[in-house]
Amino acid sequence: MKFTRRELGLGALAVGASFPAPAVLAQAPIVLKFSHVTADDTPKGKGSLKFKELAEKYTEGKVKVEVYPNSQLYKDKEEIEALQLGAVHLLAPSTAKFAPLGAKEFEALDLPFLYKDDTQFQEVAKGPAGKYLMAKLEPKGIKGLGFWDNGFYWITSSKPVIKPDDMKGLKVRISGSKIADQYFRAAGAIPQILAFSEVYQAMQTGVVDGGENTPSNIYTQKFFEVQAHMLGMNHGHLQYAVIANSKFWAGLPTDIRTQLNKAMDEATVYANEIALKENVSALEAIKKSGRTNVRALNAEEAKPWRDAMMPVYKSAEARVGKEIIDMLVKATGG
Ligand code: LMR
Repeated sequence: MKFTRRELGLGALAVGASFPAPAVLAQAPIVLKFSHVTADDTPKGKGSLKFKELAEKYTEGKVKVEVYPNSQLYKDKEEIEALQLGAVHLLAPSTAKFAPLGAKEFEALDLPFLYKDDTQFQEVAKGPAGKYLMAKLEPKGIKGLGFWDNGFYWITSSKPVIKPDDMKGLKVRISGSKIADQYFRAAGAIPQILAFSEVYQAMQTGVVDGGENTPSNIYTQKFFEVQAHMLGMNHGHLQYAVIANSKFWAGLPTDIRTQLNKAMDEATVYANEIALKENVSALEAIKKSGRTNVRALNAEEAKPWRDAMMPVYKSAEARVGKEIIDMLVKATGG
């Protein structure tokens, strides 16, 4: 019996055509899909493009990195599912979004008034606390590749907010962390989780009255156009962990993986170096726009916020465990 090519599942083949030689097939690049939710013009956007540049250079084109920014490919929750299914290979979610991976300990990095400055966050990430957190991912089939900084949150709101009392009854968008839920509730607000890609519209239509984000995100997502007020006091911090599917990462040829690790280490240094600068220039651009009233609190003005939020260190124990809280407090001298 003779089968047609179609019946054999081989597709159409022109007469005289031949299959590509195995050597040609072997040269097809390994495609790495890197999906994230922010704009290209942010610390994470630029970090992922730096990784692409270095990965393609070090592997001499054997790897092609496709970066999909701005929730183009997946939104917050979907991207985590896609990574677990192997539909995407690299992500850099904020550590506030790690509970669906079974690693809610990452939310400890969101404790209020934890870091003195960005440098301190970056040291903590490289130290024992960072290593402890990355180790939590391994049994979940996830490989942690590095922590990327995106600076301190600012609170944005449609109504003026200066004291915690001003937050009473305000609907505030949070990105996923129970710790943020707890500190905003402690300040009297009503937190609500929304995907990053839905925030602008929710603010514009009044579904939420406020939120917290970094200047680079507030600027590139245009939140400043729909929020009349911005308040800064370094109450919280935004950081990412770059992650891969462990099986996929371990299955890469050793030489390729070595080059990719090198590219990732250098992209991590780069992303962390530009984080502060990117946020300073975004804040300047927001101020210049005149669309929102920007106010930074001094230590004395921030005290009522600290008093309201610090009890979260105790209540957070049930969520993230005392061990990581103690490590972080020790590392930050808190
Ligand atoms: C947010 O959801 O507000 C942030 O996590 C977005 C991001 O990735 O910076």
